Parts: sequence; C-alpha cells; structure tokens
Amino acid sequence: MDFSPEIPLSLPRRPRRLRQSAAIREMVRETRLHPADLIQPLFVVDADRAREEIPSLPGQFRLGREDFLAELERLEGLGIRGVAVFPRVDPARKSRTGREAALDPGGLVPSLAREARRRGVGINLIADLALDPYTEHGHDGVVDPESGRVLNDETVAILVEMALCYAEAGIDWVAPSDMMDGRVGAIRQGLDAAGFEDTVILAYSAKFASAFYGPFRDAVGSKSGKGPGVDKSTYQVSPANAREALLEVDLDCEEGADLVMVKPAGPYLDILARVRERCGIPLAAYQVSGEYACLHAAARAGWLEYEAVRDESLLAIRRAGADLILTYFAAEVAGRMAS
Ligand code: PBG
Repeated sequence: MDFSPEIPLSLPRRPRRLRQSAAIREMVRETRLHPADLIQPLFVVDADRAREEIPSLPGQFRLGREDFLAELERLEGLGIRGVAVFPRVDPARKSRTGREAALDPGGLVPSLAREARRRGVGINLIADLALDPYTEHGHDGVVDPESGRVLNDETVAILVEMALCYAEAGIDWVAPSDMMDGRVGAIRQGLDAAGFEDTVILAYSAKFASAFYGPFRDAVGSKSGKGPGVDKSTYQVSPANAREALLEVDLDCEEGADLVMVKPAGPYLDILARVRERCGIPLAAYQVSGEYACLHAAARAGWLEYEAVRDESLLAIRRAGADLILTYFAAEVAGRMAS
C-alpha cells in the first residue's frame, strides 16, 4: 500500500490525542503516589546510637534508639504516616521458642514504642508479630524438637501475648507475618478482651514462601550464611498458588483483619489485582528486600536507570490495587515529592 499522508485515517478513537503534552498526560493520569501511601520499614538494634550498614540493602541501616527516634521525626516531616519496626535481636537472647525475648515488655520494640509515645511522635508504629527475630532457628513459630514441625496453636498463643505486650507499649498496628492458621481471630479477641479494641491489625495474608526475603533475613539476623535461609514452605503460601492465597485473604477478612497484605509485591501483581476486586478493606503490598536489592544491583551495574525503575515499580504496585506500599524506597521517594 502506498503511503499517502494527505489522507488522514478516519479513526473514531485516537488514544495518542490524550498523550500529546505533559500537561494533558498529567490530567488523565490514573494512578498517583503520595507520601501517605508509603510505609517505611526500619531496622533497629539495642544500642543508644548506631547506624549499621546492611550490605544487601544499600541505603538501609540498623538504627540505635536515638537514631530511630530521630528518623521517626524526619519521616513524619516528609509526610510518611507509618513505619514498620524490625528488631535485630542479640543472638544470646534468642531461644528455641523465642518466648522470653518476644514477650519482654522491656524488649527493644516495646521500649522504643514507649519512648516514641512519650515524645509525642504521631507517626503510626507498626510491629510484626512473628517469632523469627527471637528464635535461634529463624522460624516464625515454635518448632517441635522431635518432629521439626512448626506448631500452629502453640505459636498463636504466643502471638496473642506478643500483641498485648506491643499494644500496651503503644504500638498502633500489629502485623501478624507468621502465617499460622487462625491467628488473626485469636489476636483480635485477645486485644479486645484486654481493652485494646483500637489496635489495628494489618494481616500479612497472602504471604508467599518467597526467595526474595534474603536481604531482610540478613538485616534481622534470622539466618546464617548465604542463600535465602530457612525453608518456610509449611506455613507460607507456595508461589505457584493463587487460589490458596485468596483463601488466606478471605479468612483474615472474616477473622477481623483491618487491612490485608500481599507480599512480595512486584512478582505478585496478579494477586494484588484479584484481592482488590474481592475484598473491600484497605490493601497493602510489601515491596520486599529482594525486590529493592535487585533494582539497586542493576542500577549499580549501570544496566537500569535507578530513579525511573524505582518509581515505575511503585506505580505498578499502586496500579494493581495496593492502597499502601511497604517499601524501603519510602523515605527517599517521599523526600523527592516534598522537594
Ligand atoms: C518475618 C518477616 C519477613 C519479612 C517481613 N517480616 C521475612 C520472612 O518471612 O522470612 C520480609 C520482608 C522483606 O524481605 O523485606 N516473618
């Protein structure tokens, strides 16, 4: 066919019309990021002052108490409204069940929460409920010494106590990340019975047995040596299973979760989109340590353009349906929005 520029095609729709200028593209933009959508995970250590680098998470640090409290103020100033706190526990304090350290009201997470409350910090403090920072084997629950099984109901009982200990200290949201059956309902009942009906439950609902958690496990010290660490496939969902992940979401909604989460985020956008359609409560996604590490590594090698892929990765997670994103990029992205 001859090319005849003098004859315009007669098209009922020209989608390019709405892409012709930056101004019009901005007006028809469907998805935006706002600092209040972003939750910053922060690692803490039991020291007054510390800022320990985490080599597999470039730009992230394990913070001492004062550094953590100062960081909360800085993040609040950037418009971030929530942080997720993860302790690195001294190996000498770890045990087989993790019970003592996890339930110690003077432990790192409760004492930091008390101090933040005393100083009038307004940012929402979110704390994981799982035993992995406190157990010597790194599993999220109590391991039966004979069978090696992770015991469900025994673990749930400890998580309920842990929720009370955290709520008492001033943690605003508890986030069960353990994937034991029935934990959301049990935690809700325990909190309500103790008068903590305002404590929010953010359920890690569709949490996959992913190999993308490696750098996080380096950061909290829940594994030794290289590789992804312990195999959690008897409680976390198989990456092959979508229907099973949706069942977990349904159960957590029924049991009273205030928000549900999909984790990891980027490789599981199909799950995010499907959860968004079936469930009306707010939806969070966790862009996990390995996703962050991949983008950094590729950018360092000069293979990807750092800021562009960072922003695109977050936008895609929002577009798929997440209201909130837990991401190690939170502070820097909010900082760029503020400037
Ligand atoms: C603990 C927990 C994990 C993460 C958040 N909470 C690791 C795991 O389940 O082994 C991973 C977060 C990340 O990789 O950034 N249960």
